[in-house]
Amino acid sequence: MSAEEQGAHGRPSRRNLLGWGGAGLVLGAGAGAATALALDDGDAKAAPAAAVPFHGAHQAGIATPVQDRLHFAAFDVTTSERADLVVLLKEWTKAAARMTAGHAVGEGAFGADEAPPDDTGEAYGLSPARLTLTFGVGPSLFTRFGLEDQRPDALEELPSFPGDHLDKARGGGDLCVQACADDPQVAVHAIRNLARIGFGSVAIRWSQLGFGKTSSTTPGAETPRNLFGFKDGTNNIAGGETAALDQHVWVPEKDGPAWLAGGSYLVARRIRMNIEVWDRTSLREQEDVFGRTKRTGAPAGKLAEHDPVSPRAMLPTAHVRLARPAAHGGHRILRRGYSFTDGTDGLGRLDAGLFFLAYQRDPRTGFIPVQRELARHDALNEYIQHVGSALFAIPPGVRDAHDWWGRALFTAPAKD
Ligand code: HEM
Repeated sequence: MSAEEQGAHGRPSRRNLLGWGGAGLVLGAGAGAATALALDDGDAKAAPAAAVPFHGAHQAGIATPVQDRLHFAAFDVTTSERADLVVLLKEWTKAAARMTAGHAVGEGAFGADEAPPDDTGEAYGLSPARLTLTFGVGPSLFTRFGLEDQRPDALEELPSFPGDHLDKARGGGDLCVQACADDPQVAVHAIRNLARIGFGSVAIRWSQLGFGKTSSTTPGAETPRNLFGFKDGTNNIAGGETAALDQHVWVPEKDGPAWLAGGSYLVARRIRMNIEVWDRTSLREQEDVFGRTKRTGAPAGKLAEHDPVSPRAMLPTAHVRLARPAAHGGHRILRRGYSFTDGTDGLGRLDAGLFFLAYQRDPRTGFIPVQRELARHDALNEYIQHVGSALFAIPPGVRDAHDWWGRALFTAPAKD
C-alpha cells in the first residue's frame, strides 16, 4: 500500500477503502444510478460517501439525478497528432474512472519527492460526492485527425438566432467535459486534473462553474428554483423514464453514425439574466412571462405544479406555451442546467444567469426548433440574453476498464 493510501494514522483511509471496493460495493448499479456507500472506518463523524458508476451503456451525468454543482470545460485540441490525442483520451478515461470512484489520479497526491504528484491533492479525504464526468466532441474536431467522414449530420454549428449576443471566447470547443458533483471542490478538482493531464495536447478554451441546479431529473423531489425565483424543471424528462430517454435523449443505432449509438447531443448556452430589471417587474408580469405561478409553479389557470399545462390560459408569448413539446411535434429535451454568478459586469450589475444544458437525440428536432420559436416570441427575451453557445456529440458509455472515451469514433472504419 502506498503512503498516500494510508490514512493519517497508518490505517487505510476511508476514501481509499471506498475506492478499492468501488465496483464490488456498488449495489444494484444501473448505468448512471447513484449509489450511497456508507462505511464505518472508525470515524463516527464520517458522512456517507456516494459514488456513481462510471461504466455503463450510457455516460453518467445525463440521466443521473442532478448533483448540486457543476464545473464545465470546453477544450481545444492543440496537438496535430492523432496518436497523441488517442493516448490522451485513454489517460483521461483512466483518471475519470478513478476520480468518480473517489480515488486520486495515478499514484496519488503524495508520490516521490523529486516529481510533481500525479494528483493535485485538493480532493484528498473528500467523498466522491456523486461525481460524474461526461465527455463530448464538438463539430470542429471533425475537420482534422482523419475524422471528416465520421461527423454526424446533426453535429453542425448551431444556427444564429435573433437576439443572440454570442462571445466567441465563451463558445465552441473540440472536446468538452461536464463535471457534476455535490461538492464544488470535487468537480473543480476533476476538471483541473484532466486539464493537467492534457497539457501539451489540449488547452481549456472556456469553462463555467454552476450552482443551484435548475432542473430536476428525479420525480418526487422538490423542483429547484432558478435565479428568477421560479421552479425550473417541472416538465422535464426524469432519469428513470426509460422509454422517454430512449425516444428523446439517446441516439438509436438507426439514426447513425454507428459510433454514436447509445450517445446523445448536448447543447450548452450561457444565458445572462438581467436580474436587476426582473427584480423591478411586478409579480403578475413575472408570472405572465412564464405562464406559471411563482409560489407553487402551477400552470396558468391551474392549482398544482404538476397539473397539465393549459396553453390557452397563458399569453401567446409565455415561455412555457412556446417551449412545450406539444408545440414542437412532441419532441422533448432533457434540461440539466445550473445557475451562475460570475462577479459583476463593471456597470454595477451581477453577471448572473442560467448555464443552460440540454441533452437530446437530435438537435435538429430538439433544441433548434424550440429556440427558433423562443428567440422570436418569448416574453422572457426582455430579461435574458444568450452570450455563449456550443454543441457536442456525447459518445455512449465507457463499457469496462478496457474501453475509453471516443474509442468507437477513433476505431470506426473509414467510409468508402
Ligand atoms: C434563462 C433562460 C430560461 C429560463 C429562466 C427558463 C425557465 C423555465 C421555467 C421556469 C420553466 C417552467 C418549469 C418547467 O417546466 O421546467 C421552463 C420550461 C421549459 N423551458 Fe425554459 N427557461 C430558459 C431557457 C430555455 C431555453 C433556451 C429552452 C430551449 C430552447 C427552454 C426550454 C424549456 C422547455 C422545453 C420547458 C418545458 C415546457 C413544458 O413542457 O411545459 N428554456 N423554463
